[in-house]
Amino acid sequence: VFSHVVRAPEDPILGVTVAYNKDPSPLKLNLGVGAYRTEEGKPLVLNVVRKAEQQLVNDRSRVKEYLPIVGLAEFNKLSAKLILGADSPAIRENRVTTVQCLSGTGSLRVGAEFLARHYHQRTIYIPQPTWGNHPKVFTLAGLSVKSYRYYDPATRGLNFQGLLEDLGSAPAGAIVLLHACAHNPTGVDPTLQQWERIRQLMRSKGLLPFFDSAYQGFASGSLDSDAQSVRMFVADGGECFIAQSYAKNLGLYGERVGALSIVCKTADVAGRVESQVKLVIRPMYSNPPIHGASIVAAILRDRDLFNEWTFELKAMADRIISMRQKLFDALRARGTPGDWSHIIKQIGMFTFTGLNPQQVAFMTKDYHIYMTSDGRISMAGLSSKTVPHLADAIHAAVTL
Ligand code: LMR
Repeated sequence: VFSHVVRAPEDPILGVTVAYNKDPSPLKLNLGVGAYRTEEGKPLVLNVVRKAEQQLVNDRSRVKEYLPIVGLAEFNKLSAKLILGADSPAIRENRVTTVQCLSGTGSLRVGAEFLARHYHQRTIYIPQPTWGNHPKVFTLAGLSVKSYRYYDPATRGLNFQGLLEDLGSAPAGAIVLLHACAHNPTGVDPTLQQWERIRQLMRSKGLLPFFDSAYQGFASGSLDSDAQSVRMFVADGGECFIAQSYAKNLGLYGERVGALSIVCKTADVAGRVESQVKLVIRPMYSNPPIHGASIVAAILRDRDLFNEWTFELKAMADRIISMRQKLFDALRARGTPGDWSHIIKQIGMFTFTGLNPQQVAFMTKDYHIYMTSDGRISMAGLSSKTVPHLADAIHAAVTL
């Protein structure tokens, strides 16, 4: 009965890892998925995560009971504080409902499912380009997806005018997906002044912000700086959706730990919204897993562990920034044609190189370098040892 089923293509991002794993070459380099690697090219478990896990293991009172539908209460409270700020009036006024979800993707999906059921405007505007999973998440949740101009290939920067025009002509009340910081895949963020213009425009039209915060602390090395865009929108008292992921900033990729916060106008509304979000979650996966959220709560609640985390986070962010400089210098040293200054200007995990799909295919075939076909490379996957190989490959690709 399934003989008619056609083979689906691999995922454009995770499929890169599948192809990489099949390549026997010792030279192979995976710059596809956004996952942090050490200078030795190894995945990193943060020291602070190991300590928190040890605490969990040592605590004999811990059990493996079901969490509530909304997840671990302490994790939710601390997650809201982390993104909104400890002194957030919205938290003080109990206007925020936060539910533990399956990392950033799960948080986006739960938020989108809620919106499709309870919000009058079913259209969501997403930046062009954006993370490849965004349109799929929102479409499958029942929203209608449109895009707004974001990236300008000519300047390799923000198309601010285009963004304002497109959001300015969006229907009143439309949902707008915003990357809180370190825009994926471009690494191009609005300045604070530009964020303020975006906020004013969106609020004047009643557009609903839905933030995807996957890189808090990863862009600048500071948790507070990377949350400024979100906090700006929440400070004006309006509604806001925020999907938070701990995959990158705590290296908890496989634990699938994240949170969805919905900032409402009153505590009463927030309570009712939460009751409906529970009806979204229960038939999907019943309740979230306990381990990852317990690790996060242990770190966020303890001043020493928290400080240690910020230190490790800054070290990861700094290593990525140093890889930008090294790659830029290596291309300059080779006299590679083109202006590569965007490598050092862009922010976060990725560089949007400007390489086209043919050049990417060439680099994969001849140099065993794996990256997404849109020319995005994960700077977090590079090391001092592999930069020359990548620079050689880019040089060869653009001088073919
Ligand atoms: C990425 O963009 O590489 C990451 O967000 C991982 C993913 O799930 O796609």
